[in-house]
Parts: sequence; structure tokens; C-alpha cells
Amino acid sequence: MRFIHFKKNEQLFILQTNHTCYRFFVMDGYLYHLYYGKNRKKSYPEHQAYYRSFAPYFETSGLNGSPDTCKLEIPFFGNGDFRASALKLRKKDGDCVTDFKYVKHKIYNGRPEIPGLPYAQADDDTQTLTITLHDNATGCDLLLHYVVFPSSDIISRSFTLINNGKANVKIEKAMSLSLDIEGCNFDWISLYGQHNMERMMQRSKLLHGRQSVFSRRGASSHQFNPFIALLDPKCTEEKGNCYGFNFVYSGNFLDDIEVDQCNNTRVQIGLGEENFGWLLMPGESFYAPEAVMTYTDKGIGQMSRNFHNWIRRHLSPKEIYAKRPVVLNTWEASGFAIDENSLLTFADAAVASDIDMLVMDDGWFGARCNDCAGLGDWTPNPDKFKDGLAAFVKRVKEKGIKFGIWIEPEMVNPDSDLFRAHPDWCLHVPGRTSTLSRNQLVLDMANPDVFDYLTKTFSETFRDVPIDYIKWDMNRHLSEVGSPTLPPERQDEVPFRYMLGVYRLYTWFNENFPHVMIENCSGGGGRYDLGMLPYCTQIWTSDNTWPNDRIRIQHSSTLAYPVSIMSCHVSNAGDQTKNPKTLQFAYHTAMNGMLGYEMHLPTASKDVKETIKNQISTYRNHEELIKTGDLYRVFSPFETPYYAYYFTNGNEILLTFLQATGEKPKSLRLKISSAEKNAFYMCNNQIYSGKDLRQGIEITTSEEDKFSIMLYFKKQ
Ligand code: DGJ
Repeated sequence: MRFIHFKKNEQLFILQTNHTCYRFFVMDGYLYHLYYGKNRKKSYPEHQAYYRSFAPYFETSGLNGSPDTCKLEIPFFGNGDFRASALKLRKKDGDCVTDFKYVKHKIYNGRPEIPGLPYAQADDDTQTLTITLHDNATGCDLLLHYVVFPSSDIISRSFTLINNGKANVKIEKAMSLSLDIEGCNFDWISLYGQHNMERMMQRSKLLHGRQSVFSRRGASSHQFNPFIALLDPKCTEEKGNCYGFNFVYSGNFLDDIEVDQCNNTRVQIGLGEENFGWLLMPGESFYAPEAVMTYTDKGIGQMSRNFHNWIRRHLSPKEIYAKRPVVLNTWEASGFAIDENSLLTFADAAVASDIDMLVMDDGWFGARCNDCAGLGDWTPNPDKFKDGLAAFVKRVKEKGIKFGIWIEPEMVNPDSDLFRAHPDWCLHVPGRTSTLSRNQLVLDMANPDVFDYLTKTFSETFRDVPIDYIKWDMNRHLSEVGSPTLPPERQDEVPFRYMLGVYRLYTWFNENFPHVMIENCSGGGGRYDLGMLPYCTQIWTSDNTWPNDRIRIQHSSTLAYPVSIMSCHVSNAGDQTKNPKTLQFAYHTAMNGMLGYEMHLPTASKDVKETIKNQISTYRNHEELIKTGDLYRVFSPFETPYYAYYFTNGNEILLTFLQATGEKPKSLRLKISSAEKNAFYMCNNQIYSGKDLRQGIEITTSEEDKFSIMLYFKKQ
């Protein structure tokens, strides 16, 4: 089946997914956007020209093709489009006018690679349209890639710039996706936050002018996530027009929305301009990261499910474990106090509670007894492992449990042997003092010597050590972003080259430790983005494991990311293990993702240990449904005092209700809108019709804090 068509007589491109359609056409060499939305049988909107006084126009098309007022596929800097541009190139002679024209196109099965960067894998029905444009003044060719993933209703965009000219050009702005949408009566959703409170959802009305989220921190960051959505003001979880956007990249980004004088909306996703630059020499190519978009008329919930399906199918690595390991992590219980005898007691307690893996967090290497020293020295501390790391790990694994280990490869403490030997290997700028954060500096991942050192040291440290899992942390953002390995005119490239270095190292770990699962972490969920997903099975959601907050963090995280990547631990934050009800509440919160534990299990009571064992057994019964089922959010903790959601695969439904703070008892209906009208479902020996479930299961709220209910329905 073909999902991409070109109608030659109309110079019209049509991209189709199962439920959406994307259309644009070529006029006098420029690409004019027509439509992105629901698949229609006929009557798609035609090209609309907007006549505004003083609007610039090309001689050939006149105001009918004004670059300033028309909807464009790829707006260039300086050629009469005064809105935000997607590409800005500085020529050697100094000017920045950028202007490419259509030359040819190609429609093909599969998708192009993006060398050095993460991107979605094609499957049987993935198809690509690559349009080649040319700029006479620079001799550069621009390849625009539109990759269509029909069954998930996702279209991605990226570009390749090839300098086929005789002089170098400088890329000063690069936006992978630019979409001009008719009208401006929209709300937009973005995710803001901070350490311990990542991805807080905010929704506001779109205004004339620019609104954006971004990162200038070198990592996608806790502060803003690269996901945004644009939606009808009346759009709800279940109905209404909704567009979702995201970026397959983990460093600096810009998500920019601009509403113009013609009341149209431009959405752009890309590397931006403020923290990016790239010098492209004749003969060289530059590859921009992939950005993705989806559309649905079925509300915010369906937008999320489109992303979830696509991520599971095209981005996440194939499951390394048939079942995901439930881990016991040492950090919240032990901090830096790594002690092999104590860890062996953790392993015993983990085995007794049916936990699958012990994860040794920070503190096992070099002089790492607190956060002041040791980062960069990736050799096990001999005082902590009397017979060496391999012997210790073998002893743990002999107990019948897997073993995971924490690393933070991109960082160095000034108090480390690595820094003393190679002070030049961290990002820095001559004549400026490097700013510290958590007592550490950032290694120059653009420096090949750093890559060689890291691969050598980790090869030696992990040789013969049977690890099963790595927690890859990153605990500060990038400042004084300079690299002595690059000439002055290339210093703008450092943030992007840093990420290329990080992805190269991730690839090296994946290739050299093929059976090791990686969990990405960045001071909690500071790199919770699509760029990390091809390399990591899951991401640590937040250092905040307090369920009242976690409910909100996790709810917003599911807007764009499936729970199969969301790592959630039951901890003892606020002494919640002391009371069976609060322990259950923490568990019901954590089992909305990939379950783990983070507490001093050896000293926990017998009851707690037994409860955890039962929790894991229940989790195992539902793990597949949680990991791969469709998620429906019923109540939002941002709008109500509750959080309710369910997972379904058509035959089974797992419904959870969480009430963090007490209130006067009142009756609520939890609607299972995806239940089949004519089907019957069994839950706790009671039969419900699909009609009943669609009208809602009645529950009564509690006067007490931390009240939760979990219900499992099976179709009869
Ligand atoms: C920050 C992480 O988010 C924590 O889980 C823990 O691994 C610490 N770093 C260790 O330094």
C-alpha cells in the first residue's frame, strides 16, 4: 500500500496515515502547506493567499505566494518571511539570506538513516518522501525528509544539508519541523518543572506573538520537556482536535509557536539558534535530528496513545528481558555508604521478597565517599570490595538475583585522578573560571580522547563482571561550553557535538554490553526525552518518590511517553512503609510504570517484606498489560484531587484510582469509555456490562489521605 502520493498536474504531495492526511504543493519552486488533519473522503482546503499591505512577494507568484503571509513547509531566513524561520545560513561573504528552491523528490519504502543521532526504526509500512531543494547562491542542497508511520498516525521530519558549493557556510538556525496551521484559536500544553518536580503540565491559550519552551542547558532538562501539544480550546481527554509534537534529541532544543498577522499558527521544533551553530565545509553534510508530529480528533488521550504506540514500535529497543526486572536500588537507603556486607544483606532481603535485581547506586568507585570526589575514576574502590568487584557481583548473583550498577560517565570531579591528569578534558573556556555544580565539571564529550578513555576504563572495570543493568546518570548542566579540540569558529558546535559524543558512547555500551539493560537518569528525570529511547529501556522518572507528587509527575509524563519507559519506585519517603495503607498507596502509584523498590529492605518488618512479595506477584500478573496496553486517563490530578486511569488490551482492563488527600466521602463515577457496549466483564466475581462500564463504575472517596483502589476486569 502506498501512503505517499504526488499528483503531478497539481504539483501536490499527499502523505497519509491511518487517520490523518498531510498536504502541500509546489509553486514556483517553493513548498506551500495546505492541510494537516483528519483523513477526509474529499474536499480538502485549497491554497489560501492572505493579502496584507506591504507584504513581500516573489516576482513570479505575486501576493498569491507571499513568503510572509502564506503557509510554508520550510520558511527561510531573510527572503521576505518575517516570521520565525526554520533555516538560517550565513555565507562566507557575511549575509544570511537563505533561499532554496524545489529541484526533485523521491518516494520510497523505509527511511533514511540519520548518522550519529537517534531516530525511529522503519517497519514494513514506513515510507519516506525526500524533497531536494537547491540554493544557487551557496551551491548547497537541502534534503527534506518526511517519514510516514501509518499505523501510529505519526509523521516525522528532519533534513540533511549538503554543501555542494565552493565556500563554507555557517548554519545559524536549524528547525527540523515547521508546520503552519490555519487559524489560531488554540490552547497549547507544555511541561515545565525543576529537579524533584519534573514535567508539570500547563495549558494556556495561544496568543499573537511567540511562545516557546526550550533548553539552553545541554540536556533536554527538568525545566522544560521537548513535548508540546496544540489543541482546540474545548479539547478534552476524549474528544477534540489535538496536535502533538516532540523531538528525538536529548540536548538543547527550541519548541517555538508563533501566531501571525493573518491569524495563522506556526509550530517549529528543532535545535534553535541561541545555543547552536555549525560550520559546513564544501563536500560536507549536516544531519538535523528527527522531530515528530501526530494529529487526532479524539482528544488528548488519543494523542498520547499515538505517541505510546509509535515509541514502543519504532523507538524503544527490543525487550532485552522477557519480563522487566523489579529492582531494589540502594540510593535512598544507603547514599554513598557502599559496603559489601551491607549490600549482601540487601541481596538476601531482595531475594526473599522476589525482587529480581539489586542495583548498586553511586559510591562504589574511586574516592567516591560523598559527592565531592571520584567522578571520572571508574575503578572499584578496593577498600569497599576486598576481593574485587567481580567476586562481589558473583556472590550477589549466586543468591539468584541480577545485578545492576550506577555510572555517570559524562562527569568529572576536580578532586579526581582523571582531572589531575587531564584538566583539559572538561568543557571550559580559556580565561574563564569553570562554574561548579554538585562539585563537578562536565567532560568534553566532543573530544575523541575522552571517548577513548571512557571506553577503555569501563571495558577494564566491567571485564568479567557479570552486570545485567546500568543506571546512567547525569547530574549537572553545561556551562562554559568550550572545547580546546575545536578552532574558534567552531565553538558554537560544542553543544551539538557534546550530544553526538554522548550518543556515540551509548552506542558503544549497547554494542559492547548487548545483554545489559540501560536505565537513563539525569538527577531524576532531567533527560526524559525521545532521544534517549533507542539506547535505554527505561528512564528514572524523578528523584521525588513521594506519591502525592509522583501522581502529578507520572500523569504528565504519560502525555507524551508510554509507561513502559517510566521507572517508578516504592520508597520509604515520609515513612510510608510503616502503614499498610500508605505502602499500598505507594505501590498503586508505582505500578503505573515499571515497578522497583528503593528502601532499607533488610531492616523492614516481616509484614512489609511479605507485602512487597505479594505486590510483585500481583504486578507480574498485570505487567504485560501495563507495559503494552492502551492507557486511558480518567481523572487528572491537575484538575481534581484524584488520579484515575486504566490500561486495556481489549480483553482486560486494569483500573486504578488514587486519592492523595482526604475529603468528605462522595460518590464518583470512573468511566471506562473504551469498554465494548455489548460485551460483559468480570471483576471480583461480579459481572458488568460494557454499557455499565462506559457509564462508570461507582466509587466512594475517603475521608482519609492516601486512598487507592485497583480493579481488574476480564471480558467474558
Ligand atoms: C541522582 C539520581 O537521580 C539518584 O537516583 C542517584 O542515583 C544520585 N544521583 C546518585 O548520585
